[in-house]
Amino acid sequence: MKKILAVDDEIEILKFIEKALTKNGYFVKTTTNPFEVVDILKNDDFDIAIVDLRMPDIDGMKLLEIIKKDFPEIEVLIITAHATIETAIECLKKGADDYLIKPFEIKELLMTVEKTLEIQKLKSQLVSMKEMDKLKDEFISIISHELKTPLMAISGAVEILSDQIKIELERRGFLRRQSDKEMQKLFEIVSRQTDKMKKLVNDLLDFAKMEAGFIEIKKSSCEINKLVNDAIKDIQPLADNKKIELTQEIYSSGGICINCDYEMIKRVIINLLTNSIKYSPESGKISVWFEKTASEVEVGIEDNGMGISKENLAKVFDKFYRVDQSLARASGGFGLGLSICQKIVELHGGKIRAESEGLGKGSRFIFTLPIENVEAR
Ligand SMILES: Nc1ncnc2c1ncn2[C@@H]1O[C@H](COP(=O)(O)OP(=O)(O)OP(=O)(O)O)[C@@H](O)[C@H]1O
Ligand SMILES: [Mg+2]
Repeated sequence: MKKILAVDDEIEILKFIEKALTKNGYFVKTTTNPFEVVDILKNDDFDIAIVDLRMPDIDGMKLLEIIKKDFPEIEVLIITAHATIETAIECLKKGADDYLIKPFEIKELLMTVEKTLEIQKLKSQLVSMKEMDKLKDEFISIISHELKTPLMAISGAVEILSDQIKIELERRGFLRRQSDKEMQKLFEIVSRQTDKMKKLVNDLLDFAKMEAGFIEIKKSSCEINKLVNDAIKDIQPLADNKKIELTQEIYSSGGICINCDYEMIKRVIINLLTNSIKYSPESGKISVWFEKTASEVEVGIEDNGMGISKENLAKVFDKFYRVDQSLARASGGFGLGLSICQKIVELHGGKIRAESEGLGKGSRFIFTLPIENVEAR
């Protein structure tokens, strides 16, 4: 049963409120003494306090401030007369949740109470969602930090071992024995999986940093042509593995310099290219293009892969969202790549969007950087 406390110096109003609300299933306590309010609220859990604005002993506004400070979860409804409507608005600014203008009818009172309770429910859901989100971010941050240290040690050891194994195998006559071949294969698995884990942990860490607002953008003047070329160079082996043709098209004459964080924007391009490779069949085609318009530089990555349905187009930028869980899991990744890209682009004052004609019809990812960051050479 929802509990309501009504405070007014006029006993008739209190009686009216008590009768109307009790009849409709609420527990109601009334008082004409505003100085009792804090004690009453301390001793029981109330959902709403209905407070008269004009009381001889204490200003309703003052009482509102006290309740909101000491009992922030209680919603406060102010009762006011027409003449003090401005004051009622002032009360809303000070945290009152709604107001009733005297004289009010039962229907009006009930509607206002119900609306206030509904808002209270939504607020508490929002608070628990925010708390969950915060908890999740903290959890991610702790886990990734804890994983990073041992993983870096493993990665370092794997690198040293890799060199030693190579020397040893060469000394024994490279890969002549079956057991040597098997050892080599096993070692490649360890090395590959360590790299995959490093990418996952780094993505988690970067994501946690970005969510906490701890990411630092180090801008410098970068030539977009070089940025794209460098990204393509890094990603080429992945494309070659799937016999995917990677082409670069430029729709702008002359070099274009942009003021950006080179590593971060390169990472955006690499993330988008990795997706295009991941979500395209063997022998697919990917093209990267960039163009300078009047107000911005646009960079696009287009593939002829599996495409994205209309309803999933906006969702792909959500954190941890993957259209096909099983496929995404098989190819590794948390579904963070695009949300990291979006954060980086937005930190640069740009925008990113996804386009696709539908499933099986390829995808296009386009990001823009504003012209303020752009100087033509
Ligand atoms: N080029 C693309 N073609 C088709 N689907 C895509 C493409 N790029 C992204 N998607 C869809 O959007 C989802 C989210 O992409 P995102 O890059 O954020 O995560 P991911 O690639 O699954 O994992 P990771 O965290 O390693 O990047 C993908 O799981 C995929 O379903
Ligand atoms: Mg990805």
